[in-house]
Amino acid sequence: MKKINTLITVIFLSSCLFSIEKTDIAIIPMPTTIVKGDGFFSFNQDTKIYLSSNMTGLKVSSKFLCELFGQSSGIELVETKIKPLKNYVGLIIDNNLDDNYYELSINNNRVVIRANSPQSIFWGIQSLRQILPAEIESPIPLCQTELKVPSVEITDFPQFNYRGLMLDVGRHFYPVDQIKKIIDLMALYKLNKFHWHLTDDQGWRIEIKKYPLLTEVGSWRKETVIGKYPVGTKERDRKYDCTPHYGFYTQDEIKDVINYAQERFITVIPEIEMPGHATAALAAYPEYGCTGGPYLVSSKFGVHNDVFCPKDTTFQFLEDVLTEVADLFPSEYIHIGGDECPKIRWKNCVHCQRLIEKEDLVDEKELQSYFIKRISRFLNNKGKSIIGWDEILEGGLAPGATVMSWRGTEGGITAAKSGHDVIMSPRQYCYFDYYQSKDKSEPFAIGGFVPVEKVYSYNPIPEELPVELSKHIIGVQANVWTEFIATFDKVQYMLLPRMLAISEVQWTAHEKKDYTNFLDRTKLHKKRLDIMGLNYANHIFM
Ligand code: ACM
Ligand code: ZN
Repeated sequence: MKKINTLITVIFLSSCLFSIEKTDIAIIPMPTTIVKGDGFFSFNQDTKIYLSSNMTGLKVSSKFLCELFGQSSGIELVETKIKPLKNYVGLIIDNNLDDNYYELSINNNRVVIRANSPQSIFWGIQSLRQILPAEIESPIPLCQTELKVPSVEITDFPQFNYRGLMLDVGRHFYPVDQIKKIIDLMALYKLNKFHWHLTDDQGWRIEIKKYPLLTEVGSWRKETVIGKYPVGTKERDRKYDCTPHYGFYTQDEIKDVINYAQERFITVIPEIEMPGHATAALAAYPEYGCTGGPYLVSSKFGVHNDVFCPKDTTFQFLEDVLTEVADLFPSEYIHIGGDECPKIRWKNCVHCQRLIEKEDLVDEKELQSYFIKRISRFLNNKGKSIIGWDEILEGGLAPGATVMSWRGTEGGITAAKSGHDVIMSPRQYCYFDYYQSKDKSEPFAIGGFVPVEKVYSYNPIPEELPVELSKHIIGVQANVWTEFIATFDKVQYMLLPRMLAISEVQWTAHEKKDYTNFLDRTKLHKKRLDIMGLNYANHIFM
């Protein structure tokens, strides 16, 4: 391993000298305006960081920049309280500027990032980072002396305030260090919402102190199905890997991830699935299902019939769980799932049928709406709002609920027309578990076809939505479901480079997007991803 590192160092040292001479500016996502100037700013041992205020967030941004230089170069940036005349990076809070907007100005004498909040300053730092030679990403020192960045004036702001990425850790578990790697990538491309899909039929992944069996029982499954089978395939025709799969995050680990994300101005949004995708929870506490079980943490994928039964005791259980979740996560949003809830158990359950009658509900769809509204009210009283997949429209939306439109954009359009906020995540553009190439050698995927160009082409504002309602489209999210993604290497492969494309969908004005220009910029990012040691799909680079 040491030998390889030395070899890489030699190669990179020479390419480092090459790239600092280059003036290519290849920022992803594309900023609003870029005006190139003449000359360079040189970072060296004497370069200082000047902060215009001692706000905690500004110090967090400054620390990020220092660590970036510290890990990969011999340059130690030191903070100064007095603004130098030259050779400094200024992080300047300017309350006259608009929310979310930042300016990055580089000339021969200094680098200045100006914004009205530390988070926008942080995005300016990410743009500066991408202007620096790719070697700045190295986990070991490569660039020993000077680092040059070209003079430029950049102004920039995002189109959408919700720029999300979801990772499903229910189907396959990824430990904290890998979650942090994803958060690192999100920071680089200015995504700001990490949606953590923590529970599903195949595993419950978050420690809940009041209900220890959720993780003692619910975080283990006996084995995992191999391959994909049509609905209705007989059990004897399915193959399993005979290998237990397990894992969960302690509350301390969750706090660690939240803090790590916060230091990168990323909000972590937990998802606790209900009323469907609940088999792992029911395996631990069968009394909250309609039949009483027994249930097993599922070893196969697809939609499962056993769901939470809307009894008072079930609501008490879910409220207890959500109380711990709401206390842990500072996010204003809690995602409560709501998708793919079959109604067959409810149709055959005495309690469910009595509840439908008592509450004067028309059918099981209205029972689903009753379920979600009751949970939503509970969370609202804790100062939280819910996000749900677009099935939460069935039987009527809960007041104040935000809809995540995944089966297409129709759910999102309906929700926006009724005054609800929407996060667009249509599977035709945003599902990163789908194939990105039709090449026969492509790693096995769940299906679909979402190549980089398709992701890039997406316009989150539907044409059929009246202009005055477009404000309800608060953002866009890409989703990595992991039924057939069992390793972190493959997570990276499915994410990259599609994540670069979605970042531009989320940040850059649709009319400003240009796929050919984007492809040119990705070529420089390929080198960055290489230096970061990441695994990515190569199709657009060949
Ligand atoms: C989903 O893909 N079931 C939200
Ligand atoms: Zn029931």
